Amino acid sequence: TPTPLVDSFGRVHNYLRISLTERCNLRCTYCMPEKGVDLTADQELLTDDEIVRIASAFVQRGVDKIRLTGGEPLLRPSILDLCERLRGLGIRDLAITTNGILLKRKLDPLVEGGVNLLNISLDTLVPAKFELITRRRGFERVLESIKRATSLPGLDQVKVNCVMKRGVNDDELLDFVELTRDLDVEVRFIEFMPFDQNKWKAKAILPYYEMVDMIRERWPTFARTPRLDGANTVSKTWQVPDFVGRVGFISSMTDQFCGTCNRMRLTADGSMKACLFGSEEISLRDELRAGASDEALLGSIESILGRKHAKLGGHDSPESISKGSNRPMVKIGG
Ligand code: GTP
Ligand code: 5AD
Ligand code: SF4
Repeated sequence: TPTPLVDSFGRVHNYLRISLTERCNLRCTYCMPEKGVDLTADQELLTDDEIVRIASAFVQRGVDKIRLTGGEPLLRPSILDLCERLRGLGIRDLAITTNGILLKRKLDPLVEGGVNLLNISLDTLVPAKFELITRRRGFERVLESIKRATSLPGLDQVKVNCVMKRGVNDDELLDFVELTRDLDVEVRFIEFMPFDQNKWKAKAILPYYEMVDMIRERWPTFARTPRLDGANTVSKTWQVPDFVGRVGFISSMTDQFCGTCNRMRLTADGSMKACLFGSEEISLRDELRAGASDEALLGSIESILGRKHAKLGGHDSPESISKGSNRPMVKIGG
């Protein structure tokens, strides 16, 4: 068995999130400004060969789950080929987080290519509000793909990511729970998190406990089902008894889960981040292009992991995160 990648707090890191592009076909308000963000020049982005090479170094050290993110990962033209190559590294889980806009055409080939976990973002069930939040059209397409995904035997799990913002979509909380009555999905309500250029305000957070209270008022039997929580999960699973689907809460702001973090990130421009909220990075791309061996790459990976903070990238509160400097969300991949 491989020697695991362990940080200074003893946390074993076996989950790598790879961002495949900084581009996106939506402009979600909680993610980036209307005009988008400055993009890295093409020659500074990782090629497919470089992604596979770096991923294989991680896999040699026990990484068994890879999640592809973005920007919007389905915008990368080589996505299907990449999935097959990453799957070929012998990992247990190949996951994608997508906004669902391009899924109609790509769902089946992705699953054939080895994707077994799929998270789709959808923040509203009202078409006009979809346009307000994402600044683009596409609501029907996304909802249709979510429904189709739940009926595909090749997928172990379909999750819907819903970033809840007070005054924006909090009035739809119960409608999203209602969606889990007949649909085999986990709807995950995510607390609004601060990133560069996303106009974060603490008062826009809809806290975990407040959401639970609102749901319990309508369904008093709504209850936590910890046995459904995966290992190292970021979300707490709840369920209305007898509903087919589940509800999850990602309480990054009010009830952190950093203690069981097992995640590392590779950005589209080849930097490794040990924490979503940490500003520390190391360019594995530069090392690779200077001829580094797998051993050398892994040495750098271990050194940045060794500097990973206990929680929140070394910040002690959401306010502190918002005053620090990080990348915009679209350049990290969540
Ligand atoms: P699973 O593999 O299904 O657990 O996926 P996930 O929830 O980790 O991934 P996804 O890309 O669907 O992200 C859902 C939300 O969780 C996004 O808002 C992410 O930013 C957030 N998230 C993912 N990883 C972390 C993390 O390490 N820390 C924090 N605070 N939030 C995270
Ligand atoms: N806070 C919380 N979640 C966010 N996401 C994007 N920006 C934010 C934010 N500021 C979510 C997206 C997507 C996932 C990768 O991260 O909705 O589902
Ligand atoms: Fe695109 Fe995702 Fe950011 Fe929305 S949250 S703009 S879908 S990268």
